[in-house]
Amino acid sequence: METIKVSNLTKEFGALTAVDGISFKVSEGEIFGLLGPNGAGKTTTIKMLTTILRPTRGTASVAGYDIIKSPNDVRSSIGIIFQDPSLDDELTGRENLEFHAILYRVPKDRRAKRIPEVLKLVELEDKADVLVKNYSGGMRRRLEIGRGLLHDPKILFLDEPTIGLDPQTRRHMWEYIERLNRQHKTTIILTTHYIEEADYLCGRVAFIDHGRIVALDTPSALKEKQGGDIVSIQMGGTTAKAEKVFKRKKWIKSISKHDNSIDLTVESGEKRIPEIVMLAERQKLPISAVSLHKPSLEDVFIHYTGKTIREEEGSATDRMRIHRAAWTGRR
Ligand SMILES: Nc1ncnc2c1ncn2[C@@H]1O[C@H](COP(=O)(O)OP(=O)(O)OP(=O)(O)O)[C@@H](O)[C@H]1O
Ligand SMILES: [Mg+2]
Repeated sequence: METIKVSNLTKEFGALTAVDGISFKVSEGEIFGLLGPNGAGKTTTIKMLTTILRPTRGTASVAGYDIIKSPNDVRSSIGIIFQDPSLDDELTGRENLEFHAILYRVPKDRRAKRIPEVLKLVELEDKADVLVKNYSGGMRRRLEIGRGLLHDPKILFLDEPTIGLDPQTRRHMWEYIERLNRQHKTTIILTTHYIEEADYLCGRVAFIDHGRIVALDTPSALKEKQGGDIVSIQMGGTTAKAEKVFKRKKWIKSISKHDNSIDLTVESGEKRIPEIVMLAERQKLPISAVSLHKPSLEDVFIHYTGKTIREEEGSATDRMRIHRAAWTGRR
């Protein structure tokens, strides 16, 4: 069943069209990714779907509720984890959750029950009473996810869940998000500009560039559409004869030459390499090296957008400080 339907969603900031008429659907229990470079419109899309920003045109329904007509129903069905860290360093993990629950008017008895549950879920029970400033990056992100889960949402929006984390912690986070999806059937919409993250986590991925979806499919289908693997052959001499020989083979989809090497596009490249080598031997083609390149999601992204995704880290902000000072009197 579809839990999110987006149709022609558009956001303009003055003359800038940040999100340009995007449409897609997400099924219950899916992990759906929006992958795109800085400024592509990922966060703006998430903000519209979570009712933080009003669309200029188009609409969407989330958990069956229209984001424009029923924003309160949408909000009570979802959890959001923002791109910019918004935890309070001077509070403990437990206090951060408590503070958030009060802000969101979770009743006291419900708070008392739910907070320990969430701490257990994000595996922070033994760190619950430690100040967040002494948490690691991964622990902070888990606490933020826990905070987004306080009211038991069916749908979780994660804006750049692993930004700024080291590769090991990032991988840990992926496993964690996967588990959440599997065990609690939580539908997850995430944005990322890490290709491997989309490849590893997402059932389906939408490539977003300049506010538009330029491709949408499962990572493997996107890669298959690239047409096959590239077998690169380094030649000891000229490539002219090799080109003639390889041109006769129907299973070679395309051939391109560069200086002393020749690239063949084939399906299941690893299985074709022995055949290619034997053919070269019979025809006395001097091969000095053979390498295989399987298309990655990065190649697919380059294919659709003509550019790579730059990896830039986001900046941390501490927006809660003022609220916290008012709440605890601590500074
Ligand atoms: N409140 C705003 N006012 C004006 N322009 C904005 C506003 N918010 C975003 N933009 C612009 O809209 C475009 C899309 O921004 P958005 O934050 O959605 O990108 P993003 O894909 O999330 O990028 P990143 O990977 O850096 O987080 C950018 O050009 C940005 O400068
Ligand atoms: Mg963003």
